[in-house]
Amino acid sequence: TAQFCTVLYSILKMTDLESMTWRRFPLKLVEGVPIMEPIADNWEMIANFQARPDDLLIATYPKAGTTWMQEIVDLICHDGNAGKARRAPTHVRIPFLEICSPPPVPSGVEVINKIASPRVIKTHLPFQLVPKSFWEHNCKVIYVARNAKDNLVSYYHFDRMNLTQPEPGTWEEYIGKFTQGNVGWGSWYDHVRGYWEERDKRRMLYAFYEDMKEDPKREILKVMKFLEKELSDDVVDKIIHHTSFQVMKDNPMANYSSFPETIFKQSISSFMRKGDVGDWKTHFTVAQSEAFDEDYRRKMAGTSLRFRILFFAV
Ligand SMILES: *[C@@H]1O[C@H](CO)[C@@H](O)[C@H](O)[C@H]1NC(C)=O
Ligand SMILES: *[C@@H]1O[C@H](CO)[C@@H](O)[C@H](O)[C@H]1NC(C)=O
Repeated sequence: TAQFCTVLYSILKMTDLESMTWRRFPLKLVEGVPIMEPIADNWEMIANFQARPDDLLIATYPKAGTTWMQEIVDLICHDGNAGKARRAPTHVRIPFLEICSPPPVPSGVEVINKIASPRVIKTHLPFQLVPKSFWEHNCKVIYVARNAKDNLVSYYHFDRMNLTQPEPGTWEEYIGKFTQGNVGWGSWYDHVRGYWEERDKRRMLYAFYEDMKEDPKREILKVMKFLEKELSDDVVDKIIHHTSFQVMKDNPMANYSSFPETIFKQSISSFMRKGDVGDWKTHFTVAQSEAFDEDYRRKMAGTSLRFRILFFAV
């Protein structure tokens, strides 16, 4: 794996991502879920992906703490060795299952098919679209959920800077798109609920961004237990340090600085923007928040899934 990783990393470094033409791909429906067009066009390949029993899947709605959990898992798997975790950028260390970029960049599936086990794989697919093979092999999955409003704010800033995502439009328009599920990977509401309803039937750790923020140690210990990994307190402290927001923001192997400005325009908004809980309060007006909450109650009726953040007061 290490060797393949180095080779892949050098291919990606040699690939002149900057001179390639990137565009804001339209969204296309896959079984009713809007997804970036190149992914929808290669859907069969993705749906037929063959998982292995020791694959670990990190699943999230976009901007819910994916990169954060990837770093935690990678450090745990490497016994807290920060040097090893800096061997390559996040997207090379833990490939993105469904991503399809213009050639010569290999697709996520092509990359994952070549790496040695045990593999850690990232996906944003909603539960029902995850390739069946993961469930046939009873693979472990770590899901991270983030409260809807902070997730929306983060996705809005991301769509402003990820020049492969559709134009977010104005803030007001974006709230509408998000609540209608008219954004990449579809409805946040269906996504968080979809995994929640399955959590007891699968080998799944359902984690919350807000819990990770409140007590990183407690959550890192949960992940270790789930991965059946024992590490000394010293090592756990190191992992807490290396996965703190500021350290990750300054880590060139975690902050997506390897992506050129033609893809991620970090001068518009950095990939690691704030990492706060409750930042939505600086974005939503009281009227927007109230309308959002009313719609939220309707969409989330009948689920036992609860987020710790106060939704119903600004
Ligand atoms: C943003 O664009 C890059 C380049 O295509 C892609 O790899 C990445 O997955 C995109 N992020 C999301 C969440 O779409
Ligand atoms: C990423 O990390 C590098 C090295 O610390 C730093 O120079 C760069 O400004 C960071 N990029 C962003 C977008 O924060």
